[in-house]
Amino acid sequence: MVVAIDGPAGTGKSSVARGLATALGAKYLDTGAMYRIVTLAVLRAGVSLDDPAAIAALDADLSVGYDPADSRAYLAGEDVSAEIRGDAVTRAVSAVSAVPAVRARLVDLQRVLAGGSESVVVEGRDIGTVVLPDADVKIFLTASAEVRAKRRNDQNIAAGLGDDYDAVLADVRRRDHLDSTRAVSPLRAAEDAIVVDTGDMTQLEVISHLTDLVQQRSGAVR
Ligand code: DC
Repeated sequence: MVVAIDGPAGTGKSSVARGLATALGAKYLDTGAMYRIVTLAVLRAGVSLDDPAAIAALDADLSVGYDPADSRAYLAGEDVSAEIRGDAVTRAVSAVSAVPAVRARLVDLQRVLAGGSESVVVEGRDIGTVVLPDADVKIFLTASAEVRAKRRNDQNIAAGLGDDYDAVLADVRRRDHLDSTRAVSPLRAAEDAIVVDTGDMTQLEVISHLTDLVQQRSGAVR
């Protein structure tokens, strides 16, 4: 079984994809982590985010590693799993992931990692549309910008990072706009994706709903 999960940030996508992979006994591929690894390299090299050609040139020689067994991320062999989650990378990653050469290289890598006989849950923005258009099940998670901003602001408060709902909402809208209007692989649901609005559901409810969907579909596939 190949399951594609796409959708914007703040829908609970990563936790849900990970939970679904565990429930199915499948491996889990976090494609956002790969864009984050390249972004970290760009920041460390001091390359301008406004210079796509320089970003592409740096990317061409990078060793990007991701281990589906434990979801750890590597840049030239260094474990950067924690650093790629930092604010600096989060702010810069939309610009880096809009560079066509970066996308082309990472999509190739994602197809290799998703291959093989094991079941896999692949999470991202363009999995059902571009990376794995033949996935057995395609799921597109949504929630309103307000719901997603509230979730992120609540996380910020819990982490002691302050309470500023309006700023978080503005950032959610900015990232949605960048991700859905970029020229290469804009964020959108595949025509045959099942769209699930997570606004009124807990994470466990979403995981259990998706597990049922995949199991129904896998019965039909067999
Ligand atoms: O899911 P995330 O926040 O870790 O993703 C980081 C960024 O990478 C986000 O701006 C969208 C982008 N991304 C992408 O363009 N294509 C993917 N398949 C996965 C992530």
